[in-house]
Amino acid sequence: SALVVAVDGPSGSGKSSVSREAARRLGLAYLDTGAMYRAATWWCLHTGVPLDDQAAVARCVRELPLDQGVDPDAPHVVVAGTDIADAIRETAISAAVSAVATNLAVRDELRRRQRAAIATQSVATSFSHGRGIVAEGRDITTVVAPDADVRILLTASQEARLARRARDVHGSDDEAAVAATHDQVLRRDADDSTVAQFHVAADGVVTLDSSDLDFEETVEAVLAIVAQ
Ligand code: CDP
Repeated sequence: SALVVAVDGPSGSGKSSVSREAARRLGLAYLDTGAMYRAATWWCLHTGVPLDDQAAVARCVRELPLDQGVDPDAPHVVVAGTDIADAIRETAISAAVSAVATNLAVRDELRRRQRAAIATQSVATSFSHGRGIVAEGRDITTVVAPDADVRILLTASQEARLARRARDVHGSDDEAAVAATHDQVLRRDADDSTVAQFHVAADGVVTLDSSDLDFEETVEAVLAIVAQ
């Protein structure tokens, strides 16, 4: 039968890259729910909706024409015919995404779509690798898929998370690069924490601390938890 793996964690915990690679090795689909919030933010900015107008943002996201791939080897994020996979990683989106993601009507809409995507992978072989999915984000283990077969909270020390983010964004984890990401990452995590609980594992969720693990070790630790 199908396998559903839910992974949550804060920014810089490595959850996206680790979850994608775990999905690849398990032959499962992969759902990046953060990309959905980022795509929603891009669409609001693109269509000129003021992010402080909660009702307008909610309307905009309900009509988000999003086509997101779940093949871990061929990711695409297409909105109204435009592939925005790179655009949604830009600083402007990272800075604005929490404002959209803390809108509860937005969360209702995107959670509905996430559950539908997970259900599709659980019942059909629409993705050729096999049956099942690794879904990652901030509220997958708790709200979107609390009944997942495997639930993991991927954590890391603040120091490790800031260093990773600095390497991702600036290609370096020297003092200046860490300082440049510091405020943004911590503010985003603080804002996100108001609507999703991803710093402490919920009941039945396995905590995996990646502070002292490299990428390969973290992937292997995830696979070991799945194999249990
Ligand atoms: O860049 P990072 O890996 O930290 O975050 P992401 O996974 O790309 O998610 C971007 C943003 O989407 C987060 O900062 C949250 O505001 C929001 N998000 C959420 O609210 N719930 C989720 N399940 C996933 C992401």
